[in-house]
Amino acid sequence: MMAGMAKRDLISVVDMKDKWAEMVDLAIKLKAERGHHGDPLKGKTLAMIFEKPSTRTRISFDVAITELGGHALYIDESKMQMGVHSETVEDTARVMSRFVHGIMYRAYDYKMMDKFGEYATCPVISGLDNLEHPCQALADMVTIKEKLGGFRGKKLVYLGDGNNVCNSLLYAAAIMGIDMVACCPAVRMPNAEIMWNATKIAEENGSKIIASHEPEKACVDADVLYTDTWISMGDTTPEAEAIKLFQAYQINDRLLSIAKPGCIVMHCLPAHRGQEVTGEVMDGPHSVVFDQAENRLHAQKAVLYTLLKD
Ligand code: CP
Ligand code: NVA
Repeated sequence: MMAGMAKRDLISVVDMKDKWAEMVDLAIKLKAERGHHGDPLKGKTLAMIFEKPSTRTRISFDVAITELGGHALYIDESKMQMGVHSETVEDTARVMSRFVHGIMYRAYDYKMMDKFGEYATCPVISGLDNLEHPCQALADMVTIKEKLGGFRGKKLVYLGDGNNVCNSLLYAAAIMGIDMVACCPAVRMPNAEIMWNATKIAEENGSKIIASHEPEKACVDADVLYTDTWISMGDTTPEAEAIKLFQAYQINDRLLSIAKPGCIVMHCLPAHRGQEVTGEVMDGPHSVVFDQAENRLHAQKAVLYTLLKD
């Protein structure tokens, strides 16, 4: 960061609303460069704190900063002073900011994330919390642009649990002008404030955000069917209860046949074949889930470049 410039965080998608479209295009450009970027983040260190497990977020951030010329530190939160010996979040954020150029944090509680952002003097990037998963939503927008050519007039139907992934998708869809249906059971709708804010942003952008509890109606004319696990990390809902609650929201051949013929199927992964998506659909011709997973790498590069480059 240049001296005197205020640092920026990516904790909620809306933190980077003004840069979102630019970051989508940057990710696509960086993808085309195939790892040859000329080390724009040479000498930069990203600390990555994990309170929960991760495959995609951890690996893609590490590879992303390495390919941009920088370095990543993996930190298991349970081995830090912060949790175990009760050093405050505020002090931890202040201290870490003296060592590194950026902090990626995967947290259980969004309040911890917000506090980290408030006290760190370097950029803080959410690697997921209980409210949002902004970097996932950026990779999702990259994937939609690649596969469908753009956003306007496209209809995305999210089916299942109105969780962190759904919340960030609502914001990202609204910012890019995609029509989105959050199709979830009434007791598991997305965060009400985010839903409201996203609806307003969508209105400004000429698109629509709506809620539904009827998967078969919601999927009519869909360009994208999107789902995520029925039980997120930290959610204590018994599996049998979740299956009962979400069964009608499973992405399967029946729902797919209601959508547009060229409809793509997305999932942030990890997936549970036979629950939120059938194995046939997951491994079938409509599924783009592994390209979507790869795009995490390119999206992380766009985020790191935008927030950490001098
Ligand atoms: N989609 C996602 O964030 O995956 P990980 O939990 O493996 O990072
Ligand atoms: N909603 C899921 C996403 C995992 C990447 C969770 O929070 O566990």
